[in-house]
Amino acid sequence: MSPRVVTLAHYYTAPEIQRMADKVGDSLELSLYARDAQADIIVFAGVRFMAETAKILNPQAQVILPDAGSTCSLVTQTDIAALRAWRESYPDHVHVSYINSSAEHKALSDWIVTSRNVDDIIAHLYAEGKKVIFSPDRNMGAYLNFQYGYDMPLWSAVCEVHDKFNEDALNEAFAGVSGQAFLIAHPESPLPVLQRADYVGSTSGMLNWVKSYQGELSATIFVATEDGILYNMHEARPDLNLVQAPIYAGCQCNSCPYMKLNTVAAVQAAQAGQGERIDYLTPEQMDAARLPIERMLAFSQRYVA
Ligand code: 13P
Ligand code: SF4
Repeated sequence: MSPRVVTLAHYYTAPEIQRMADKVGDSLELSLYARDAQADIIVFAGVRFMAETAKILNPQAQVILPDAGSTCSLVTQTDIAALRAWRESYPDHVHVSYINSSAEHKALSDWIVTSRNVDDIIAHLYAEGKKVIFSPDRNMGAYLNFQYGYDMPLWSAVCEVHDKFNEDALNEAFAGVSGQAFLIAHPESPLPVLQRADYVGSTSGMLNWVKSYQGELSATIFVATEDGILYNMHEARPDLNLVQAPIYAGCQCNSCPYMKLNTVAAVQAAQAGQGERIDYLTPEQMDAARLPIERMLAFSQRYVA
């Protein structure tokens, strides 16, 4: 019998890759789908931390990342020994980590969050009277501290793609629009950008905002996130004027180099069993990383359609 192959693709992959997938989604949706997939092979057209999460949640499956180079700057900017020392310097705090982190990083965390559920999980912890430290995304943490008045100590790594969105370039772009203009943004963007956004949320959250937009059709909607999701937005609402937000140089060129390593040839090869096998995590490493992920999934099951 031939192996059951399930292909997952993040919204940031190119349209032709999304069309090869059984499921397209954000980090949270893809984690849940991977956990429940009845598959011998899961091909994860995303980046390494996503494929590792799939393996941790579905250890029976062979998980394959099409290109071994698909990392994430939030992972590569985080030195694990330094993170451990930082975490140990806050012994009475709960350590909340963004899912954009390595398995080793997750194992040093009490909770994992995605951009979809981070607001609710941290609000829940503060409501319980807990003190929280947040890693690895400095921009996301700064936004949460600003938005809700928290004082979470923050780890300092950034998404090299979203960190390039720039307030001055946005002001210029807004000034060039004659009618109404909106900004929707991913929380990995810098705080000054998020402060002027009409909506801040995950990739799925932004897509839902676009789907349910009821305002002027002539309005310009600037989208501050990776360019892949513009495809899904245009498909959902071809009637809207959706424009990628500019970065500091004024260009609209925010593409994640790691996501874009998922080429058609690489995904096809992965579906045939080639590519980077996520088989290097020990059972102990996976058990330690699974605990904070499962905490999140139990909490957020109700947010996912
Ligand atoms: P989402 O959790 O919104 O899918 O984002 C993942 C990501 O890598 C954003 O850069
Ligand atoms: Fe990582 Fe940024 Fe790429 Fe998302 S867009 S995978 S956070 S580098």
